Amino acid sequence: MRIIHAASEMYPYIKTGGLADVVGALSHALAARGHEVTVIIPGYRAVMESPLVKEARRTQELKVRLGNRELAGEIRTLAIRPGLTLQLVVREEFFDRRQLYGTGARDYDDNDARFIFFQKAVVEFMRATGGGYDILQAHDWQTGLLPLLLRNAEQRAGGTLAARTVFTVHNMIYQGVFPRSSFALTNLHESLNAMEGIEYFDQISFLKGGLMYADRVTTVSPTYAQEIQTPAHGYGLEGVLQLRSRGADAVRGIRNGIDTAVWNPAADKLLPAHFAAEKLSGKAVCRTALLQQMGWPEPCTGPVFAIVSRMTTAKGHDLLLGVVDYLAKKNCRLIVLGSGEVKYEEALLAQAAAHPDRIAVRIGVDEALSHLTFAGADFFLMPSHTEPCGLTQMYAQIYGTLPLASRVGGLIDTVRDIATHGEKGTGLMFRPELNDFVKALGSALKLYSNQARYAAVQQSAMRQDFSWESVVGQYEQLYNA
Ligand code: ADP
Ligand code: GLC
Repeated sequence: MRIIHAASEMYPYIKTGGLADVVGALSHALAARGHEVTVIIPGYRAVMESPLVKEARRTQELKVRLGNRELAGEIRTLAIRPGLTLQLVVREEFFDRRQLYGTGARDYDDNDARFIFFQKAVVEFMRATGGGYDILQAHDWQTGLLPLLLRNAEQRAGGTLAARTVFTVHNMIYQGVFPRSSFALTNLHESLNAMEGIEYFDQISFLKGGLMYADRVTTVSPTYAQEIQTPAHGYGLEGVLQLRSRGADAVRGIRNGIDTAVWNPAADKLLPAHFAAEKLSGKAVCRTALLQQMGWPEPCTGPVFAIVSRMTTAKGHDLLLGVVDYLAKKNCRLIVLGSGEVKYEEALLAQAAAHPDRIAVRIGVDEALSHLTFAGADFFLMPSHTEPCGLTQMYAQIYGTLPLASRVGGLIDTVRDIATHGEKGTGLMFRPELNDFVKALGSALKLYSNQARYAAVQQSAMRQDFSWESVVGQYEQLYNA
């Protein structure tokens, strides 16, 4: 099949979260199955400056109408491997900036124009390359209007650009909501600027567009597919999702896989030693290296808890702060890596300063330290209030680090609780509230004190198959159905 994926991020070219990991690995997995795959992303400054795209060639000039302005852009093309090509949409005015979506404090003012430009450029690219794609898969709000823009372009010019459109929601929290006046930039018929169209509480929503107009809607785990049809996780769009979920039109939940070329403790280039379920000595080397890097040269007999995550309330950093005092009194260590909301960064740094022998906090995005943390810790914390899929709990399990995860979304689909599965379990689960989290930490301390039992659970965790090869068939089925 000829498949085009449109997204805002793709690992290893540009990444702020799991979306990038998924687009990167899924497109490789599809190409490995013999499909002809194109990924198209914005040519952000960080992408254009990356040595990885040095070989990208200018292949197309394009013109895009935004309201009554006509704007020029260009496409740069990079062959990644047989069957997989990267296309970059370049326009300096929009993408040559320090960040992707805004400064830490607020979003860029012109994200409406930036991403409408990007989406129209995708349609232009598809037209200029002759159309006839089997699948256009669009990811998250930055590409939510694409199914609609694509069908609109087909209607005006005739011909088929893509036989089927798929819209994949990676997170309902981020919706791409803009003032109604932004609608003019789409050049779509004014009748769509209404409740039956993309209007949303007197604004317009890109995400709603994707949910309404794609031929198929998917999300990244089966449990999240159910949850987002309820007010607690639908963030105002549960009604639209319920409508879409009638009969054969069900919103499908396909659990993410992990990229085993990047995430494999037996071959990970970012680790000081390698290990596998049948030979764990390398994990002890990683643990010592991690403790040393945190400024703790002496051995630690208690468990090492760690978290690697964007620092937001949705990820449960409020709960994390709530358990710090409890952990500081125990024989254990807590390692926190992440960046995000300033209030969490500051509060966590203050906790580390108050308990320097117990708690270490590193603010920032650090790929190498993240790998060492997954490898060197004993338990991985994931106290999310909502979690579409989550990748880090899967990385942790494969690296023999047991997740303590809240019972929501994709975490339910990827962690087996030892409370119900015994040694066939792979982690500990709790309700995302303080008391239950503390109870789970207590159970983790107890589990760790029984080394034989801990080792048995660790084996169950490490011997799972989370690879994309094991899930890519579900996308093929969806594309063909
Ligand atoms: P989300 O996309 O909601 O942030 P996921 O679990 O799907 O959550 O993916 C997060 C990705 O970002 C993982 O690859 C994780 O390792 C990475 N990540 C998050 N914070 C950091 C950080 N501070 N340094 C390095 N990698 C990080
Ligand atoms: C989003 C979600 C996360 C998911 C990722 C990739 O960022 O927050 O749960 O794993 O997308 O689908």
